[in-house]
Amino acid sequence: MLVSTVACGGLDGFGSSLEREQARTIGTISRTRPDDDQGQAYQALQQDAWRREQRFLDAVQPGHLWRSTRVRQVEIDAGLWSVGELYQLGGQLFTLHFTRAVGMGAAQEPPLRRFHAGRRGGPDALRCASCHWRGGLAGAGDAADNAMFRGDGVHQSSTIARNPPALVGAGLRERLAVEMTAELRAIEVEALTFAAQAGYAIELPLMAKGIRFGSITVDPEGNVDRDEIEGVDPDLVIKPFGWKGTVATIRDVVEDSLLIHHGMQSEHLVIQGNEPRVGDKGGDDPDGDGVIEEINEGQVSVLTLFVALQELPQEQPPEDPWLASLWARGRLDFDRLGCAGCHVPELPLDSARWVLPHRYGGPSLTADLTAEGAEPRLAPSVEDGTLRVRLFSDLRRHRMGSGLAEAHTDQGVAGDEFITPPLWGVARSGPYLHDGRAPTLEDAILLHGGEALGSAEAFAALDDAERAPLRVFLTSLTRARRLVTP
Ligand code: HEC
Ligand code: HEC
Repeated sequence: MLVSTVACGGLDGFGSSLEREQARTIGTISRTRPDDDQGQAYQALQQDAWRREQRFLDAVQPGHLWRSTRVRQVEIDAGLWSVGELYQLGGQLFTLHFTRAVGMGAAQEPPLRRFHAGRRGGPDALRCASCHWRGGLAGAGDAADNAMFRGDGVHQSSTIARNPPALVGAGLRERLAVEMTAELRAIEVEALTFAAQAGYAIELPLMAKGIRFGSITVDPEGNVDRDEIEGVDPDLVIKPFGWKGTVATIRDVVEDSLLIHHGMQSEHLVIQGNEPRVGDKGGDDPDGDGVIEEINEGQVSVLTLFVALQELPQEQPPEDPWLASLWARGRLDFDRLGCAGCHVPELPLDSARWVLPHRYGGPSLTADLTAEGAEPRLAPSVEDGTLRVRLFSDLRRHRMGSGLAEAHTDQGVAGDEFITPPLWGVARSGPYLHDGRAPTLEDAILLHGGEALGSAEAFAALDDAERAPLRVFLTSLTRARRLVTP
């Protein structure tokens, strides 16, 4: 069966105007969060009812849910969809089950495969929410959800095991990274200009939002020595995603995730000729499964927007006075033990206007994360109106020692090097560390080595009662209370 946009129904890719109406009006997942428990319960039950009904429709017409997310990029460009509607479609795509009928996997390959086969990946799961679920919508994954990347398709020992991180606050992370990259790049330009004018070489420290990334040396001829750059690639682009900090944009992760976890090939990668092929297959259907345009440009956009607009994690200290006093001590211990040196509590943000990257240079959709993101959202500080993102990370890579090292370098990043994971929401995202080896927060701390060895040893030197405050503090880094049916 050859499924194409035409075979699916109208030329706009929607099965019928009825489907389109349904996608528009009711949606599965909303950005709003009613304040009261009753409102939340009502919302969750409504969503559940909607999804049940949709599953019946999917039983009648396999692929119905997938088709109802097939918004076209030109429609997004033309402003025909609101941010709220696009978010709902993205949420629908995040939670729906991919099937063979809509292009999951490739011809002559097992429907699901635990160990990835190189760039082709699995498929290893039915939906994004199979792995990103702990602690709520777009959350983390358990150890059983680890992705086994870049292997030979058969042997576990050939793979790199990674635990699914929570996607909370993703758009803010991307915005911070964009601003930090601009700062670092500006320093490079400044050094080039200065050296050319002065006629001698100059070394400038690389600082972005107060975080140090080594230094850069430039001579009058414009040669740039990048050997002293630290914690970021020589291109000075902060890549906040992936445990190794190797991906700059949510859009790139989303497009790649569709391919490697679900075998859903995006229109863009197929056009680029960048998709893995099966046998001698190429053209419109490189994976040879008879489905073309498995994921159109608009679908990548809505899924990207959905991830970018995820909620802001919350800090909720305990109410009980005794626990609250432990919490306050734990907050101080976090600084005293050196945790805050890498897990920097707060980074300033100039603009919360998130931009959806456009592949073909068209008009970019933007969303103000303080007004259009999922609730709860970032709010300007009450004191001075500035934006401060309390993510507990420096978005910089660190050497974490041989104990945590992976067997191979990954995209040029050494085996023991990892980007500091944000600790916002950490109480809801266990198990911990890049491969989920740490069942508790305490285990995670004790496994720190390399640059963080001093911190870990200082913590290990405390007796159990002295460790309690830090445990209590970390437990307050959580997500807003919400009833969910992801
Ligand atoms: C089999 C489990 C699995 C599935 C299914 C999965 N992911 Fe992930 N996801 C991961 C893992 C593991 C990582 C970390 C990857 C790394 O470190 O390189 C990740 C990372 C991400 C990130 C970057 C987050 C960060 O903090 O670095 C995003 C965004 C993301 N996934 C979105 C998606 C979307 C969208 C889908 C569905 C199309 C999806 N994922 C499906 C396991 C999964
Ligand atoms: C030198 C920088 C550095 C210091 C200092 C540091 N960390 Fe980390 N932390 C990291 C990195 C990098 C990782 C990820 C390592 C990995 O996954 O293998 C991490 C991981 C974690 C995790 C697991 C997060 C998750 O989502 O899985 C927790 C919890 C944590 N650190 C808490 C702390 C605490 C508490 C301290 C102080 C006692 C501390 N860290 C000190 C860099 C640091």
